[in-house]
Amino acid sequence: MRFGIKTLDDASVQGKTVLCRVDINQPVDRVSGTLKSINRIQACVPTIRELSDKGAKVVLLAHQGSDIEYKNYYTTKPHAAVLSRLLEREVRWIDDVCGPAARDRIRTLKDGQILLLDNVRFVAEEQTLFEMKLRLSHEQQAQTQLVTKLAPLADLYVCDAFAAAHRDQPSLCGFEQVLPSYMGRLFEKEFCTVSQVMEAPDRPCVFVLGGAKISDAFLMMNTVLARGVADQVLTGGLVANIFLTALGRPIGQGSLDFILKSNYGEYIERAKELYAQFGRRICLPEDLAWVKDNQRCESPVPQVPDDITAVDIGHRTAERYREAILSAKTVFVNGPMGVFEQEPSEYGTRQVWQALADTQGFTVLGGGDSITATEKYKLTDKMGYICTGGGALIRFLTGEELPVVRALRHGAEVSEPKMR
Ligand code: 3PG
Repeated sequence: MRFGIKTLDDASVQGKTVLCRVDINQPVDRVSGTLKSINRIQACVPTIRELSDKGAKVVLLAHQGSDIEYKNYYTTKPHAAVLSRLLEREVRWIDDVCGPAARDRIRTLKDGQILLLDNVRFVAEEQTLFEMKLRLSHEQQAQTQLVTKLAPLADLYVCDAFAAAHRDQPSLCGFEQVLPSYMGRLFEKEFCTVSQVMEAPDRPCVFVLGGAKISDAFLMMNTVLARGVADQVLTGGLVANIFLTALGRPIGQGSLDFILKSNYGEYIERAKELYAQFGRRICLPEDLAWVKDNQRCESPVPQVPDDITAVDIGHRTAERYREAILSAKTVFVNGPMGVFEQEPSEYGTRQVWQALADTQGFTVLGGGDSITATEKYKLTDKMGYICTGGGALIRFLTGEELPVVRALRHGAEVSEPKMR
């Protein structure tokens, strides 16, 4: 037991059916149907291997999102193939989550076998927008289709999805109400390391926030600024564009259209309020980049032309951010500075990432795109700590008790079903 949660050391799994929630949500190339990174899949291999080696019938539950926040979900089929390769044993897969086909398949599993179910978010009650609107209690989550259909087939629940520990959804918080529950090895490592390391960051403490996961970024920014955790927040990507818009600065019509089309308009107002209160500690880009005829173009923010879409921070901003990172003692990073996947728009992210590698400060990175960028620039060994969680890490940093942590503490008290 660590931090009030049982670990796999406390579990006896031989011959038992174990529902194991993993976070193998990876950037997907929807055109080729392949995964752009497999780091999260690699990270949960030790738990799955241990369960299988110890003779459990392992049923994996996972979600797979999309590039467009919370809108399009994608099958977990490619993940099963990757897992099979990494584990060097067959990982079965079924295009069902908790219907009769999935349940039949679970019943036929033999000791040591592994089955990955399809994307849990194909089930309506598991969806993030649903979660946010309905706010089901953990007891109510135990009444959902997913939990009522699958829990009776299982003996234990293991959560190895620290990266999704901020989500209050049935696959993450419902099973702990009815099954004895444990954290997997990855969850244990991440939760315990981050708990210990993050309680008192060395200062100055700088947050680098970019990317396109706007709701997460805004949620934590307010708290870390208000509580004085962050001495400085360096903004990039869509986060920066929203702030610039809030201050009436030009970002190009294409960027503005994207913000409005993605229903992020409400964040413009929130950015205004945040800036009014904490503007001294929020750094915004002073120049932006866009691409024309496959060539990178840049200009200081006041002169950004109207007919462009900003895709990166400019050289001057990148230099300023580099200096801030080099003088920091702790740096939290979530999200790239721009469209780093393409050569003309990668400069800002590349520079910032190089600064993270060069700084003497302790660097903590989280989030799928941040990890992809780290891999792209071959800087994995130069970072202090790479957490598989983006939103979860950030939510944790706000001091909030993560819903999954609360549920696992509850699940530590639940006893095993006597008969099935
Ligand atoms: C993540 O990528 O942060 C986790 O997998 C959770 O995904 P979500 O933000 O789509 O819930």
